[in-house]
Formats: sequence, C-alpha cells, structure tokens
Amino acid sequence: MQPVLHYLKQHQKRFLAEFCDYLRFASVSAQPQHKKDLLGCARWLVAHCQQIGLDARLCPTAGHPIVVAKTQRAKGSAQPHFMVYGHYDVQPPEPLDLWQSPPFEPRIQGRNIFARGSTDNKGQNFAHLKAVEAYLKTGTPLPCDLTFVIEGEEEVGSENLDKFLTGHRRELACAAVVISDTGMPTPDCPALTCGLRGIIAFEITLHGPARDLHSGIFGGAVENPAMALAQMLAQARSAQGRIQIPGFYAGIVPLTKYERAQNKRYPLKDAQLKKLLGAPRLFGECGFSATEQRSARPTFEINGLTSGYQGEGSKTIVPAWARAKITCRLVPNQKPEHVRKVVCAWLKKICPPTVRMEITAGHGAEAYHVSPTSAPAQAALRALEKAFGRKPILMREGGSIPIVNQFKKILGADSLLLGLGLPDDNAHSPNEKFSLDCFEKGQRMSAYLWQELAA
Ligand code: BES
Ligand code: ZN
Repeated sequence: MQPVLHYLKQHQKRFLAEFCDYLRFASVSAQPQHKKDLLGCARWLVAHCQQIGLDARLCPTAGHPIVVAKTQRAKGSAQPHFMVYGHYDVQPPEPLDLWQSPPFEPRIQGRNIFARGSTDNKGQNFAHLKAVEAYLKTGTPLPCDLTFVIEGEEEVGSENLDKFLTGHRRELACAAVVISDTGMPTPDCPALTCGLRGIIAFEITLHGPARDLHSGIFGGAVENPAMALAQMLAQARSAQGRIQIPGFYAGIVPLTKYERAQNKRYPLKDAQLKKLLGAPRLFGECGFSATEQRSARPTFEINGLTSGYQGEGSKTIVPAWARAKITCRLVPNQKPEHVRKVVCAWLKKICPPTVRMEITAGHGAEAYHVSPTSAPAQAALRALEKAFGRKPILMREGGSIPIVNQFKKILGADSLLLGLGLPDDNAHSPNEKFSLDCFEKGQRMSAYLWQELAA
C-alpha cells in the first residue's frame, strides 16, 4: 500500500488540474442543447481512463453514451470482480445569477472546488479513478478486477442503463457495486449509507381557456388554471407536512428502535441544519426528527410551478394553462407504480370540471436498502475508517439512485454507498462545491477498499 499512498500524495496537483478539465464540460443531461457536451465529456473520460492504464470504451445508447473502463484481466482470473458506478452528467446550473463564479469554470477557494458536478458526481467518482491510477502506475497488483461504469443519464432517471446492464450481464457480473454518489454528515464523520429513498416523477398541466385572456374582460367568468392548480396542490399536504392522499402511506414499514437510536447519533443537529439551509425554520411531520424526515419518510414535493406571465412588470391575464413538476420520495415497501396510481386517482377526483387535466408520467424507482453486516459492507467500513481515521456511521439518505435496484435485479449485486459529499456542498443548487479533503481522503478510501474487499 505504501507506494500507492505515496503516489496519491505526490500527484494531487495534477489530479486537480485534470479534475478541472473534467468539470469544464457542461454535461447537463436534462437540456437537449448540451448533447454535444455530454459526448465530449464521455470521450474525454474514455481517453483519461486509457491514459491511466484502463481498457476503456464508449458505449452509445439511445440517449447519452456510457463509459466502460476495466482493469486488465489475467486469463482465467480468480480475483473478485467489482463494479464502480458513477455518472458524468450534471443537473442544470440555473439560476445562473446566483453563482459566484460561472458553473463550468471551476474555481478553487481554500480547500473547496466550486463547479456544477463537482460533488455530484464527477469529483466523488474521480477519486476512485485516481486510486486505481495509483495502483496501475506504481505497478502495485490490484487484488480485485474492476469495471468502471460511468453513465450520462443519472440525473434524468438512467433510462438507458437497464438495457445496457441486461445486454452486458456476463461482462458486468460482480460481487458488489461500489458507488460514491451520496453524502457524509461532516468532514470528519465518514458514513456508509444503507438506504436510499425511491422516487416517482410526474407533471400536471391544467388547461383552461384556449388562450390567455384579458382578466378584466373575462376574469371571474372563466376558471383560472393557476388558481385551480394551487388549490389542488394545497390539498396534497397538511400544514404540518402530513400527506393527505388516501393510500399514500399504505404498507410503510415503521423505523425500528435500533434505527431510531442510530438516527439520534447523526452528528448534524437540527439547529446546524437550519443554519446551513438558510430557512426561517425547519419543517416537518410531527414525531420525526429532521434526520428521519429527510431520509426515512416519504414526501410530495413541488419542484417547479409555472403559469401565466413571468416577465417584468404586470400583465393582466387569465392564463390559458398552469403546470407543476412534482416528485414524491418513497421509502421501503412503497411501490412506485402503486403510489403513482393513488396519486393520479386522487388528482382526478379533486380536479374541478372547469379545467382539463393532463398528467405526464416521468421516471420512477423503488427505495433501496442493504444490510450493513455483509462481508463487503464490513470491508467498506474498515476502508472508511482507515482513510478518515474515524469510525464511520451507518445512515439512510433521502436522495435516490434509481439504478441500484437494477444492479440487484439484473446483476444480483448489492451496492456499497460510500458517499464523499457534504451537506453544504450545494448539490443541485447554485455554487455547488466539493471538498478537496474529501477528494483526497476518498482516493485513499478507494485504495484501501480494494485490499479490504479482497481480504
Ligand atoms: N447523487 C444523487 C443522489 C443522492 C444524493 C443520494 C445525496 C443520496 C444523498 C444523484 O445524483 C441524484 O441527484 N439523483 C436523483 C435521482 C432522480 C433524478 C431520479 C435524485 O435523487 O433526485
Ligand atoms: Zn444528483
């Protein structure tokens, strides 16, 4: 291990320059105008993986390409095989005016690097690539065979990865999937994530009059779709945060005593969280801590709400339509299709006859849960402890990585979620950043991990 750790120490400056090159690609998967940037980014990754000494290729899909990079295999290798999964696509950077420096011009300030995609997920995944580089460049034998699968559609639901997994089932068969695309509570508290929330996404559009109308001439005699939508959405949740849709909570497994005790140990306390988020107050369903509300309870969230005139000044109209983008986070035992059904049925029931409702279904995924007592999970805990010098905690997280369910279903492999992101990294927000300490320790964690997993 010494040469590997030494190599990592020696080359941080170059790693950082390469990381900046990676961050300069505006690989925004949700926006069609960035298709070329995604392709450019994927090509850059392939070339970079080859430079490191991996056997890398670009795999086209119906959407954005997938990058596959493998360590060279000895013929008939009996070493265990692990997949490292990550994504090179990023969330849209908007609103741009809130960024202190442009989202695709990486800026280093102190021990942080600011850019869209820095923590989610380019930096976290890059740490693993650098660890493997250290093995390959120092001629240190890797005790495992590794395959990196880095996709370009995670932020839009990984719609083409299923097919790819099915088509490459033999090549990708592995003992476990290693993923750094989650978080840790504080810089000196490493964590193994044992649960992620699931998700359903959809859009509701209410159509009113055939075109925007003069609100003085016609207002009052025709439904206002924005008001109708606001009234409908307001019924989805009580003022205390309890979701009011019949059947929404059906079948949810309550938190165990053990889990609740673990949650109490989570080091980021409510007061710190409130400060971090800049909210006037925290919010949430009675009887659950903030940690539990944001990891172990389901939600109904409005992600976007659009209608009528959004420009400067006023415009007196009754808008022709109103639209909401919604996602619900799901917890274990909530089936996405079932929740979708009860939500749609409820919306139809409460929709007034004065508007026509259109519902478009988006992506969906079940929640994920993995045992922390398996041999690979125990190995991961040891690697975290060695790299961070602290005992890691076990936690559930509220975000979703839909494809982990497919890794289990299609490949039979569990995912080890070794997050390097911090709560103040601003993932999906303006001024996203990644801590360079987490980057460095993440590289060491990855270097230890292969030893521990093979042991
Ligand atoms: N890295 C996140 C997921 C995440 C973040 C999990 C923090 C746990 C803690 C990932 O890139 C992400 O944002 N996923 C989306 C999935 C969705 C688009 C289907 C999410 O959770 O919103
Ligand atoms: Zn994300």
